[in-house]
Amino acid sequence: MVTDNLSDILVLKTFAGLEDVLMKECEEAGLGPAEKGVRAVYIPHRKDSVIRANMALRTALRVLVPLGQFHIQTADDIYEGARQVRWSLFMKTESRFRVQSSVHSSLLKHTGYAVLRLKDAICDQVREVRGFRPTVDKVAPDWIVDLHIHENVVHLSLDTSGPPLFKRGWRRRNGEAPLNEVLAAALIRLAGWKDEEEDFFDLMCGSGTLVIEAADIASGKAPGLHGRPYSFMGYPGFDIRFHQKVKRDLASHRKEIKVKIWGSDADKEALAAARINAASAGHSDTIFLKKTDFRKLDFQPTGLLLLNPPYNKRIETPGIARLYQELGRFLKHQCHGARAGIFSGYSEALKRLGLKPSKTHKLFNGDIPCTLALFELFEGRRNEYLKLQHEQRLV
Ligand SMILES: C[S@@+](CC[C@H](N)C(=O)[O-])C[C@H]1O[C@@H](n2cnc3c(N)ncnc32)[C@H](O)[C@@H]1O
Repeated sequence: MVTDNLSDILVLKTFAGLEDVLMKECEEAGLGPAEKGVRAVYIPHRKDSVIRANMALRTALRVLVPLGQFHIQTADDIYEGARQVRWSLFMKTESRFRVQSSVHSSLLKHTGYAVLRLKDAICDQVREVRGFRPTVDKVAPDWIVDLHIHENVVHLSLDTSGPPLFKRGWRRRNGEAPLNEVLAAALIRLAGWKDEEEDFFDLMCGSGTLVIEAADIASGKAPGLHGRPYSFMGYPGFDIRFHQKVKRDLASHRKEIKVKIWGSDADKEALAAARINAASAGHSDTIFLKKTDFRKLDFQPTGLLLLNPPYNKRIETPGIARLYQELGRFLKHQCHGARAGIFSGYSEALKRLGLKPSKTHKLFNGDIPCTLALFELFEGRRNEYLKLQHEQRLV
């Protein structure tokens, strides 16, 4: 592929706080050694890495091929800096491109002007070298150029993903406050789910994000097997046979689901959305879905319970404090022997649950600070439980 000649590293973008999770995923997928960045992970750019990283990784948001990095004092410096990149290397024939930007800089008043200067630099350089002027096409570009500015540092890259990678291709319906798929996959990893041994329960499943990601993981279905398009597919030199080879390789990791995956929700509409999404993801038969309030469950869940209960920043829920108290009581009295993960942006969550977590992770859901709190659910007193665990480890 044309991008193979451009850089010897790839930049994988992710959410703040998920860098370590993504690094581990890269190592497991044979894409390492991975290096940690800020909301980013760097991996070697080998022959199949662009295709493999886009299709195999659950916790990456984009796969970028870096083209250049430079410092600026004013927006006009972007023009000079961008002229140093050899755009004409890959914009060889009449090319259409689009710029996507993320700008966080006190030096720049208007993001639009920064983008304009970049477009001018690309067009002027390609015209001088190749004799034609590339055109900007927001709908069907040949190339997607990524402009990232943090204070006075500019990064220019080619985006090989197109739509961000949380868009797996299976979502047909959104619930009221659906979790981002990349975040959901990261929560499952952070909770340490043993997908071949532990049952998986989401008793507030909404549109089904957590259970669908869990079913994908338990069945070895890589996100790229849901059939979404990627921008690398349109890049000159894209070798369809190579793409097919990566797909075949990913498909060879499919496996039978050995555990129960259960999603339930008190809301009829949410459950309908979960059913439609699960069917579209090919998991109608693997995820058990039921409309029910968790307080009415008449059996004892086992394995891992991973829940994203409402919190009043995004869904106004009257009686939220009581809901968390009741959830805490339910976990304490009805889930002995299981583990639980509660992901919430409700600042009182831990206090209201009344349970002591074994571990917490500070994360974000969009711009809302959230906590993933992990619990070991046992009968009786915590001290006695910990003593017993210690003794069992010694035997
Ligand atoms: C933040 S949303 C979960 C979103 C979900 N993770 C997704 O990706 O779509 C919280 C869900 O909790 C459900 N819920 C609230 N109270 C409940 C209860 N007592 N029993 C079961 N579900 C409840 C709501 O209907 C809502 O769908």
